Amino acid sequence: KRKLVIDVDPGVDDAQAIMVALATPNVEVLGITCCHGNTPVDNVCKNTLRILKVCNRLDIPVYRGCTEPLLGRKIHAGDFHGKDGLGDAPDPDAPGLELLQKEGAVTAMIRMISENPGEVHLVATAPLTNLAMAVKLDPAISEKLKGLYIMGGNTDSRGNTTVCGEFNFVADPEAAYIVLNRFFCPTYIATWEFSCRNNLPWSFCDPWLAQDTDKARFMKRIFSHTMQMVQTERFEKEMVAGVGFTSCDTYAMAAAIDDTFVTECEQVAVTVELEGRYTRGMMVLDPVEMLKKQHKVNIMKTVDLEKLKKMLMDSLK
Ligand code: BDR
Ligand code: CA
Repeated sequence: KRKLVIDVDPGVDDAQAIMVALATPNVEVLGITCCHGNTPVDNVCKNTLRILKVCNRLDIPVYRGCTEPLLGRKIHAGDFHGKDGLGDAPDPDAPGLELLQKEGAVTAMIRMISENPGEVHLVATAPLTNLAMAVKLDPAISEKLKGLYIMGGNTDSRGNTTVCGEFNFVADPEAAYIVLNRFFCPTYIATWEFSCRNNLPWSFCDPWLAQDTDKARFMKRIFSHTMQMVQTERFEKEMVAGVGFTSCDTYAMAAAIDDTFVTECEQVAVTVELEGRYTRGMMVLDPVEMLKKQHKVNIMKTVDLEKLKKMLMDSLK
């Protein structure tokens, strides 16, 4: 089985990505590490447990991670994902935080990678604080990974949180910088522009969410706040390839679980801007190789959207 460690901040699209992983037969999720991001970390932990409960997978260990970015100001995305991170559609029977593991997310991440050298696919769909802390504590983890799959960053000045900045990178620019300069394993990045260009038509949501299962009913409840948000003028401007919705985090997940999902990549050295009035947190590409970096990442360009639709459909069955 393909071994995954997932670092998340659910977040509705994180929930979609986690549910895709759980529905994939050849995947074993070793653990889920939680990070501040769309909502404060305790909400993130609670949301992760809610997702696992609806999927009947509370056996998967969940770890609480960093509460704030390394240096900058803490930000959340309540407008988009709901204040509680999952569309403000509370569940009175949500599992309690006593189900969390005692071990912290950063040490758990290092341990899970070290116990399975060369085997772990690390999927990161939150601000990169936990990963940055982990690689500072144990730089050897970077070469022990089979692959790193990140949702975050942007390749031109199209941001979703600041003019030029994507949420996960803007929420902790220093962490993004450390990760992109200290992880030397094969790395795949689903950027914000890529996600917008590869969006799915709204018509997909009807059959997807109309499935007669608890998982589909759960998704419909937590997704409705975001669905309303996204169908506004601002977001229509953002979706470059015509109107639709993008489950950003699911692209990183799909790339991790199926090697044939990504059909075209740009291989390039990258770093992150840490200063700049408009550009702090922006990913910087170095196609001319001025930074003289050996390590190149794979920026996803095109993917098999039919495969993505099938994964999303199956995830709610
Ligand atoms: C990213 O930011 C978060 O709001 C989403 O969960 C996704 O990880 C998109 O910019
Ligand atoms: Ca996320």
